[in-house]
Amino acid sequence: MSAAYPASRPRRLRRTPALRALTREHRLSTDDLIWPVFVCEGDGVTQEVPSMPGVIRRSVDLTAEAAAEAHGMGIRAICLFPYTDPSLKSDDCAEAWNPDNLSNRATRAIKRAVPEIAVMTDIALDPYNAQGHDGIVRDGVIVNDESVVALVKMAMAQAEAGADILGPSDMMDGRIGAIRSALEAAGRSDVTIMSYAAKYASAFYGPFRDAVGASGALRGDKKTYQLDFANSDEGLRCVARDLDEGADMVMVKPGLPYLDLCRRVKDTFAVPTYAYQVSGEYAMIRAAAGNGWIDGERAMMESLMAFRRAGCDGVLTYFAPEAASLIRAGWE
Ligand code: PBG
Repeated sequence: MSAAYPASRPRRLRRTPALRALTREHRLSTDDLIWPVFVCEGDGVTQEVPSMPGVIRRSVDLTAEAAAEAHGMGIRAICLFPYTDPSLKSDDCAEAWNPDNLSNRATRAIKRAVPEIAVMTDIALDPYNAQGHDGIVRDGVIVNDESVVALVKMAMAQAEAGADILGPSDMMDGRIGAIRSALEAAGRSDVTIMSYAAKYASAFYGPFRDAVGASGALRGDKKTYQLDFANSDEGLRCVARDLDEGADMVMVKPGLPYLDLCRRVKDTFAVPTYAYQVSGEYAMIRAAAGNGWIDGERAMMESLMAFRRAGCDGVLTYFAPEAASLIRAGWE
């Protein structure tokens, strides 16, 4: 393939920035970034998330402003996560399909302010569930089919509010097919589904659960529906299943510890593939950088490029605005 040393000296191509740029295999663009944001009640309100330095919750008005800024920086999609008041949580999770819940109000406000940006929403019951789980709990069991009925109602309310991309993150069986049929029946064949297809039961979600106020309610773990992190074939089967049921795009989650899955998914299915660099991954980089132990900017860009190298078409990352401004400044 290549000559032996000394005819071959790979260092020749690394000698100057020009030669390195000419031979660079992957690039990171603002088109690759999806920005997850946390929304809270109020007007003109921001709240810090202590376990995610640099990340804030914003009220609906400020979320729409932030979306406009993101669009101005070239970011194509924003993904909404509501911080739900504990008084709105119940065992039947009815707030999830309230047309005027926080997430749906934020979707409408963003679509009014900046229609060009794609709005992605999250479909799972945990922000609305007094039990803290992604599905409905009966006698300590997370029941599948009843949860799917609820998730479909939630999805339809989000589509009605104007969401461009529905993101089922609940890991119940059969939810993609059920949501896809309901969309068809309602004449909404235009709505895209990005399935959280290979989503693992992970310790890296900890800071997120603080950000959406779900840690208090959750008892136990999510291992009866999220995947066992020892399994990768099972992740592929879940991706196959979700594509079969009508997902347009698929996601692997968490991100960096699961790059092997990203690569297998892309190679096996050749479909639009995304990864979620989750809250705990963000927190680790931020914390180390905050302590002066690593260069935060360089670690951020290196971690984002890793997703491109592993075959991802894009990445959900809390770093999106920061990465976008570096990309626009011509970062190398
Ligand atoms: C809700 C959901 C979670 C995340 C996204 N959607 C948490 C969970 O499954 O417990 C995690 C995102 C992150 O950690 O950044 N189902």
